[in-house]
Amino acid sequence: MIHIKNSAEIQKMRDACRLAAEVLNETGARVAAGVSTLELNDFADKLTRKNGAVSAPLNYKGFPKSICTSVNNVVCHGIPKKADVLKDGDIINIDITVILNGFHGDTSRMFVVGEIPKATQQLIYDTDRAMHVGIEAIRPDGRVSDIGDAIDGFLTPKGYGIVRDLAGHGIGRTFHEEPSVPHYRQKRHRDRLRPGMTFTVEPMVNQGTWEVDFDPDDGWTVRTRDGKLSAQCEHTCLVTDDGYEILTQA
Ligand code: MF3
Ligand code: CO
Ligand code: CO
Repeated sequence: MIHIKNSAEIQKMRDACRLAAEVLNETGARVAAGVSTLELNDFADKLTRKNGAVSAPLNYKGFPKSICTSVNNVVCHGIPKKADVLKDGDIINIDITVILNGFHGDTSRMFVVGEIPKATQQLIYDTDRAMHVGIEAIRPDGRVSDIGDAIDGFLTPKGYGIVRDLAGHGIGRTFHEEPSVPHYRQKRHRDRLRPGMTFTVEPMVNQGTWEVDFDPDDGWTVRTRDGKLSAQCEHTCLVTDDGYEILTQA
Protein backbone atom coordinates (compact mmCIF):
# COMPACT_ATOMS: atom_id res chain seq x y z
CA MET A 1 0.00 0.00 0.00
CA ILE A 2 1.30 3.45 -0.90
CA HIS A 3 0.58 5.96 1.83
CA ILE A 4 -0.93 9.32 0.82
CA LYS A 5 0.12 12.03 3.29
CA ASN A 6 -2.42 14.60 4.46
CA SER A 7 -1.47 18.27 4.83
CA ALA A 8 -0.41 17.92 8.48
CA GLU A 9 1.83 14.96 7.59
CA ILE A 10 3.24 16.84 4.62
CA GLN A 11 4.19 19.74 6.88
CA LYS A 12 6.04 17.33 9.17
CA MET A 13 7.79 15.82 6.16
CA ARG A 14 8.86 19.32 5.12
CA ASP A 15 10.31 19.97 8.57
CA ALA A 16 12.21 16.67 8.74
CA CYS A 17 13.50 17.08 5.19
CA ARG A 18 14.64 20.66 5.79
CA LEU A 19 16.65 19.50 8.79
CA ALA A 20 18.18 16.61 6.83
CA ALA A 21 19.30 19.08 4.14
CA GLU A 22 20.85 21.37 6.75
CA VAL A 23 22.71 18.53 8.44
CA LEU A 24 23.98 17.37 5.03
CA ASN A 25 25.25 20.87 4.19
CA GLU A 26 26.97 21.34 7.52
CA THR A 27 28.50 17.87 7.54
CA GLY A 28 29.67 18.16 3.94
CA ALA A 29 31.40 21.42 4.83
CA ARG A 30 33.65 19.36 7.15
CA VAL A 31 34.94 17.16 4.31
CA ALA A 32 38.71 17.64 3.97
CA ALA A 33 41.90 15.64 3.71
CA GLY A 34 42.78 14.19 7.12
CA VAL A 35 39.18 14.04 8.38
CA SER A 36 37.84 10.56 9.20
CA THR A 37 34.40 9.37 8.21
CA LEU A 38 33.74 8.74 11.92
CA GLU A 39 34.32 12.45 12.63
CA LEU A 40 31.70 13.28 9.98
CA ASN A 41 29.34 10.76 11.61
CA ASP A 42 29.79 12.22 15.07
CA PHE A 43 29.35 15.79 13.85
CA ALA A 44 26.12 14.90 11.99
CA ASP A 45 24.72 12.96 14.93
CA LYS A 46 25.33 15.82 17.38
CA LEU A 47 23.79 18.41 15.07
CA THR A 48 20.76 16.18 14.49
CA ARG A 49 20.17 15.74 18.24
CA LYS A 50 20.70 19.44 18.88
CA ASN A 51 17.74 20.02 16.58
CA GLY A 52 15.47 17.65 18.49
CA ALA A 53 15.74 14.83 15.96
CA VAL A 54 17.46 11.43 15.79
CA SER A 55 19.61 9.78 13.14
CA ALA A 56 17.49 7.16 11.38
CA PRO A 57 20.32 4.80 10.31
CA LEU A 58 21.56 4.18 13.87
CA ASN A 59 20.43 0.64 14.78
CA TYR A 60 18.21 0.49 11.67
CA LYS A 61 18.18 -3.24 10.89
CA GLY A 62 21.44 -3.37 12.85
CA PHE A 63 23.27 -0.55 11.03
CA PRO A 64 25.96 0.54 13.53
CA LYS A 65 26.34 4.29 12.84
CA SER A 66 24.27 7.44 12.34
CA ILE A 67 25.04 8.30 8.70
CA CYS A 68 26.34 6.52 5.60
CA THR A 69 29.70 7.55 4.17
CA SER A 70 30.52 5.95 0.82
CA VAL A 71 33.98 6.65 -0.59
CA ASN A 72 35.19 6.07 -4.19
CA ASN A 73 34.19 2.52 -5.28
CA VAL A 74 31.70 2.21 -2.40
CA VAL A 75 28.24 2.59 -3.94
CA CYS A 76 26.26 3.16 -0.73
CA HIS A 77 25.78 2.15 2.93
CA GLY A 78 29.45 2.76 3.78
CA ILE A 79 29.96 2.56 7.56
CA PRO A 80 31.83 5.50 9.14
CA LYS A 81 35.12 4.43 10.72
CA LYS A 82 37.93 6.10 12.62
CA ALA A 83 40.49 4.42 10.34
CA ASP A 84 38.83 5.71 7.15
CA VAL A 85 40.63 9.02 6.77
CA LEU A 86 39.85 11.10 3.69
CA LYS A 87 42.71 11.93 1.36
CA ASP A 88 43.29 14.14 -1.65
CA GLY A 89 41.43 12.86 -4.71
CA ASP A 90 38.71 10.99 -2.81
CA ILE A 91 35.02 11.38 -3.64
CA ILE A 92 32.47 10.72 -0.91
CA ASN A 93 28.72 10.40 -0.72
CA ILE A 94 27.27 11.50 2.60
CA ASP A 95 23.75 10.19 3.20
CA ILE A 96 21.74 11.78 6.01
CA THR A 97 18.38 10.57 7.27
CA VAL A 98 16.80 12.23 10.30
CA ILE A 99 13.58 11.48 12.18
CA LEU A 100 11.87 14.66 13.41
CA ASN A 101 8.45 14.53 15.10
CA GLY A 102 7.97 10.99 13.82
CA PHE A 103 8.78 11.69 10.15
CA HIS A 104 11.85 10.84 8.05
CA GLY A 105 13.85 13.16 5.79
CA ASP A 106 16.46 11.46 3.57
CA THR A 107 19.06 13.17 1.35
CA SER A 108 22.58 12.59 0.05
CA ARG A 109 25.14 14.03 -2.33
CA MET A 110 28.75 13.94 -3.37
CA PHE A 111 31.67 15.84 -1.87
CA VAL A 112 35.21 16.00 -3.20
CA VAL A 113 38.58 16.09 -1.46
CA GLY A 114 41.12 18.25 -3.33
CA GLU A 115 41.66 17.76 -7.05
CA ILE A 116 39.90 15.06 -9.07
CA PRO A 117 40.17 14.08 -12.77
CA LYS A 118 37.78 15.55 -15.38
CA ALA A 119 36.01 12.21 -15.86
CA THR A 120 35.27 12.00 -12.13
CA GLN A 121 33.91 15.55 -12.10
CA GLN A 122 31.72 14.54 -15.04
CA LEU A 123 30.46 11.43 -13.18
CA ILE A 124 29.38 13.56 -10.24
CA TYR A 125 27.80 16.21 -12.46
CA ASP A 126 25.91 13.59 -14.52
CA THR A 127 24.68 11.83 -11.37
CA ASP A 128 23.19 15.06 -10.02
CA ARG A 129 21.65 15.81 -13.43
CA ALA A 130 20.25 12.26 -13.61
CA MET A 131 18.55 12.68 -10.24
CA HIS A 132 16.95 15.91 -11.44
CA VAL A 133 15.91 14.36 -14.78
CA GLY A 134 14.16 11.65 -12.75
CA ILE A 135 12.51 14.16 -10.42
CA GLU A 136 11.32 16.26 -13.36
CA ALA A 137 9.45 13.18 -14.65
CA ILE A 138 7.21 13.20 -11.54
CA ARG A 139 3.63 14.21 -12.26
CA PRO A 140 0.28 13.26 -10.71
CA ASP A 141 -1.33 10.38 -12.66
CA GLY A 142 2.07 9.51 -14.12
CA ARG A 143 3.77 6.27 -13.08
CA VAL A 144 6.61 5.38 -10.76
CA SER A 145 8.36 3.81 -13.75
CA ASP A 146 8.47 7.21 -15.55
CA ILE A 147 11.29 8.17 -13.18
CA GLY A 148 13.59 5.24 -14.02
CA ASP A 149 12.76 5.56 -17.72
CA ALA A 150 13.91 9.20 -17.69
CA ILE A 151 17.08 8.50 -15.72
CA ASP A 152 17.99 5.52 -17.91
CA GLY A 153 17.39 7.54 -21.08
CA PHE A 154 19.77 10.19 -19.80
CA LEU A 155 22.58 8.01 -18.39
CA THR A 156 22.79 4.86 -20.50
CA PRO A 157 23.79 6.65 -23.75
CA LYS A 158 26.68 8.15 -21.80
CA GLY A 159 27.99 4.66 -21.00
CA TYR A 160 27.36 4.57 -17.25
CA GLY A 161 26.12 1.60 -15.26
CA ILE A 162 22.93 2.30 -13.27
CA VAL A 163 22.79 0.27 -10.06
CA ARG A 164 19.78 -2.09 -10.04
CA ASP A 165 20.03 -3.79 -6.68
CA LEU A 166 19.00 -0.69 -4.72
CA ALA A 167 16.18 1.76 -5.43
CA GLY A 168 14.48 4.91 -4.21
CA HIS A 169 11.67 4.32 -1.75
CA GLY A 170 8.53 5.70 -0.21
CA ILE A 171 9.26 7.48 3.05
CA GLY A 172 7.27 8.98 5.90
CA ARG A 173 6.66 7.57 9.36
CA THR A 174 8.85 4.70 8.18
CA PHE A 175 12.31 4.90 6.60
CA HIS A 176 11.54 2.61 3.65
CA GLU A 177 7.97 2.05 2.49
CA GLU A 178 6.16 1.55 -0.80
CA PRO A 179 6.66 2.37 -3.58
CA SER A 180 10.07 1.09 -4.65
CA VAL A 181 11.49 3.56 -7.19
CA PRO A 182 13.94 1.90 -9.62
CA HIS A 183 16.43 4.15 -11.41
CA TYR A 184 16.61 2.08 -14.62
CA ARG A 185 14.08 1.15 -17.27
CA GLN A 186 12.11 -1.98 -16.47
CA LYS A 187 8.58 -3.34 -16.71
CA ARG A 188 7.42 -3.51 -13.08
CA HIS A 189 6.60 -0.63 -10.75
CA ARG A 190 3.84 0.84 -12.87
CA ASP A 191 1.95 2.26 -9.86
CA ARG A 192 0.31 5.62 -10.47
CA LEU A 193 1.77 8.71 -8.84
CA ARG A 194 -0.78 10.60 -6.72
CA PRO A 195 -0.63 13.92 -4.89
CA GLY A 196 0.49 13.37 -1.29
CA MET A 197 2.93 10.55 -2.04
CA THR A 198 6.44 11.09 -0.70
CA PHE A 199 9.43 9.08 -1.91
CA THR A 200 13.11 9.42 -2.66
CA VAL A 201 14.92 9.56 -5.99
CA GLU A 202 18.52 8.45 -5.41
CA PRO A 203 20.33 7.06 -8.47
CA MET A 204 23.61 5.25 -7.88
CA VAL A 205 25.75 5.67 -10.99
CA ASN A 206 28.85 3.59 -11.79
CA GLN A 207 31.70 4.49 -14.13
CA GLY A 208 31.76 0.84 -15.24
CA THR A 209 29.40 -2.08 -14.76
CA TRP A 210 26.10 -1.70 -12.90
CA GLU A 211 26.89 -4.85 -10.92
CA VAL A 212 27.65 -4.53 -7.23
CA ASP A 213 28.68 -6.72 -4.29
CA PHE A 214 27.52 -6.58 -0.69
CA ASP A 215 30.31 -6.90 1.87
CA PRO A 216 30.07 -10.42 3.30
CA ASP A 217 31.66 -9.38 6.62
CA ASP A 218 29.77 -6.25 7.65
CA GLY A 219 26.64 -7.08 5.62
CA TRP A 220 26.20 -3.42 4.61
CA THR A 221 28.93 -1.90 2.44
CA VAL A 222 27.98 -2.04 -1.24
CA ARG A 223 30.86 -1.83 -3.74
CA THR A 224 31.17 -1.79 -7.52
CA ARG A 225 32.02 -5.28 -8.77
CA ASP A 226 34.76 -3.92 -11.07
CA GLY A 227 36.29 -1.57 -8.46
CA LYS A 228 35.50 1.56 -10.51
CA LEU A 229 34.03 4.73 -9.03
CA SER A 230 30.38 5.26 -8.13
CA ALA A 231 28.40 8.40 -7.33
CA GLN A 232 24.95 9.04 -5.83
CA CYS A 233 22.60 11.96 -5.13
CA GLU A 234 19.30 11.76 -3.27
CA HIS A 235 16.30 13.97 -2.61
CA THR A 236 13.03 13.27 -0.82
CA CYS A 237 10.17 14.41 -3.05
CA LEU A 238 6.43 15.08 -2.75
CA VAL A 239 3.93 14.58 -5.56
CA THR A 240 1.76 17.72 -5.76
CA ASP A 241 -1.44 18.56 -7.65
CA ASP A 242 0.57 19.97 -10.54
CA GLY A 243 3.92 18.21 -10.34
CA TYR A 244 6.37 17.77 -7.50
CA GLU A 245 8.12 19.50 -4.65
CA ILE A 246 11.69 18.68 -3.61
CA LEU A 247 11.47 18.53 0.19
CA THR A 248 15.21 18.21 0.92
CA GLN A 249 16.29 21.24 -1.10
CA ALA A 250 18.74 23.15 1.09
N1 MF3 B 1 19.73 6.52 3.61
C1 MF3 B 1 19.75 5.29 2.87
C2 MF3 B 1 18.72 5.41 1.79
O1 MF3 B 1 18.81 6.33 1.07
C3 MF3 B 1 19.46 4.09 3.70
C4 MF3 B 1 20.50 3.76 4.66
S1 MF3 B 1 20.01 2.38 5.51
C5 MF3 B 1 21.25 2.25 6.62
O2 MF3 B 1 17.77 4.72 1.68
F1 MF3 B 1 20.87 1.39 7.47
F2 MF3 B 1 22.35 1.91 5.97
F3 MF3 B 1 21.44 3.39 7.18
CO1 CO C 1 16.86 6.83 0.67
CO1 CO D 1 19.56 8.10 1.97
